Amino acid sequence: MSAKLLFGKPIQEALLEEVAASARTIIEAGQRPPHLTAVLVGGDPASAIYVRTKTNKSREVGFGSEAIILPQETTTKEVLSTVTRLNEDDAVDGILVQLPLPEHCDTKTVLDAVDPAKDVDCFHPHNTGLLVQGRPRFAPATPAGIIELLERSDIEIAGKHAVIIGRSDIVGKPMAMLLLHRHATVTICHSRTPDLAAVCRGADILVAAVGVPGMVTKEFVKPGAVVIDVGINRVADRDQAADILGDSADWERFEERGYLVVGDVRPDVAEAAGAMTPVPRGVGPLTIGMVLVNTLAAARERRGVGGES
Ligand code: GUN
Repeated sequence: MSAKLLFGKPIQEALLEEVAASARTIIEAGQRPPHLTAVLVGGDPASAIYVRTKTNKSREVGFGSEAIILPQETTTKEVLSTVTRLNEDDAVDGILVQLPLPEHCDTKTVLDAVDPAKDVDCFHPHNTGLLVQGRPRFAPATPAGIIELLERSDIEIAGKHAVIIGRSDIVGKPMAMLLLHRHATVTICHSRTPDLAAVCRGADILVAAVGVPGMVTKEFVKPGAVVIDVGINRVADRDQAADILGDSADWERFEERGYLVVGDVRPDVAEAAGAMTPVPRGVGPLTIGMVLVNTLAAARERRGVGGES
């Protein structure tokens, strides 16, 4: 068996077209376009790429967007004052503080300071609470993107056993809520789960969100299961990359960049799975798409602007 590969790009394109059409409706009604502001602290190259992609895609769909880039040594207090200024700026509909913040910054304090009405990442405890109660204001971007991917690929969720590896606030926990609200039976696994592979073999839908390159092997997968790989790991060790990727390793790219991007799931899992997301080009594009969907929702709710959803 060879799994059907679930690519994120075509679904991202469909999402962005829908968002762009709504943005046009808002502009035609004489209103300002939705506006997303990203805050990046420090020079982490991967984070800089994510932020640039989010602001570029925002402009592509007709939104206003910019990134505020603060130096690595910025204090928590200084980040807070930027967040407060954006909260008070009526022209800003969505605020996104790119994670991880530098170690000396108090991430929880910063995220808690974002106006919940502008919290397009859905990281504020108020929005998390609404999500848990099944009446979300915003859908957390990566898990919501995975739901879009499953639904638009006609993969049934109701009644299925979904197993999630990883219990982060950004992916694991909100993913569990979104699947539960769509009537899946949900198991969350983590570093202290005994016999992880056996638990995962019970999954109809397996979501790997741990950040350990190549951790999920064929032994974790029930034949025909749907496997969603959220891992985006940079592997700079040639032997490790060769061990995980086998024949699918792109050595030219390795030489060029000094690393390869590897998921939490080994590519040879495709021999057991019914469908799976590749890394890269799987889940990643959907996270970006959902941030824009949330920015549109924030603009509508804050300003009472109309248009089809
Ligand atoms: N860093 C990794 N994932 C995310 C995300 O979804 N949002 C933000 N703001 N930072 C991230």
